[in-house]
Amino acid sequence: MSMNGKEQLIDNHGREISYLRLSVTDRCNLRCSYCMPEEGINFVKRNLLLSFEEMLRISRILAAHGVKKIRITGGEPFVRTDIMDFLKDLVAIEGLEKVSITTNGVLLKKYLAELKNLGIQDINLSMDTFNPETFKKITLRNDFEKVRDTLFALIDNDFNVKVNAVIMEGLNEQDIIPLTRLSINLPVKIRFIEEMPFNGQYRKASKLNWTSAKILDEIRTVFPSIEKFHTLKTSTSENYKIPGAKGLVGLIAAYTRTFCGSCNRIRINATGNLRTCLYGPEVLDIRELLRSGSSDQEIIKEIKKSINSRALDGFEAEKLNIGHEKVNESMSNIGG
Ligand code: GTP
Ligand code: 5AD
Ligand code: SF4
Repeated sequence: MSMNGKEQLIDNHGREISYLRLSVTDRCNLRCSYCMPEEGINFVKRNLLLSFEEMLRISRILAAHGVKKIRITGGEPFVRTDIMDFLKDLVAIEGLEKVSITTNGVLLKKYLAELKNLGIQDINLSMDTFNPETFKKITLRNDFEKVRDTLFALIDNDFNVKVNAVIMEGLNEQDIIPLTRLSINLPVKIRFIEEMPFNGQYRKASKLNWTSAKILDEIRTVFPSIEKFHTLKTSTSENYKIPGAKGLVGLIAAYTRTFCGSCNRIRINATGNLRTCLYGPEVLDIRELLRSGSSDQEIIKEIKKSINSRALDGFEAEKLNIGHEKVNESMSNIGG
């Protein structure tokens, strides 16, 4: 199909694919328990990671086929050496309208001016609590102040900031109200995320207690006047607003998966594996294609094949994993 003369990728269920989530590293400087184990992690060897050149090439190919947005994820993107040089080349790709980043914020502050210059506006900041002790409990590191400073610096510099908080029973449920309260005076979107079973610990995640419906109920006990706010069709979050607040509150049903019907995303992890659903298996080894001398045409042909056999939703995709050992893979491996 063609749009403005450019080909547009469409999946087998009629969904436009216009958003790539590209992981630049599986490494991280924090150890959030919902994402990776404390020890015993097998980080990928350097030569198995896509090089920046390779990432740029695949980004160009996808942008030429209607991908308009790339969100950079990890691990933690800013632990990868020379990431700023890469971003500089990435934002220059023709056809790309937006480059966004999801980060834990620990190393971010010194790059803000440069990011601004590159026109990167959208920063999603992982911050599951506003309490230093709880931060330490969740991340196993003492970086709360750095992340908090980054948050305020992002706001001062007019970035479009979304705060991501995964809510976990017995860990940070007591933070739901204080985090919600932040949206009153800060122009940010505070988003509560259902915990998914991607913690790399090869254990079945316990039954999800904090569903987004339950989180909303909790918020309503203190802010009964919170009201629904406009939400884009392709957004992962349902948005809400406390009347008069500067910011918003969002609920992300990452586990109950209510937004698959309008999913426009594909993912490429740091080793160049394509996933057409967060819950599904790796469906294409793009690194192998890149390194075996495939042409752009050959590469896009293979990607189209994968997009043409995409699972209907995250539940169907999950079934494709049964029998694979990677069901409880780490988010840092999947790439966010
Ligand atoms: P933007 O709309 O670009 O801001 O994306 P986002 O909010 O989805 O991105 P972000 O990296 O901040 O992720 C926030 C949460 O949503 C994380 O827990 C993600 O894993 C989850 N998430 C992102 N994409 C998907 C998806 O395709 N499916 C599901 N089920 N969860 C997702
Ligand atoms: N469940 C839900 N969200 C997760 N994230 C990482 N691991 C999980 C998980 N198991 C979130 C991070 C980050 C985003 C890309 O994904 O908080 O903000
Ligand atoms: Fe898309 Fe899969 Fe996420 Fe649903 S669970 S929104 S289909 S990536």
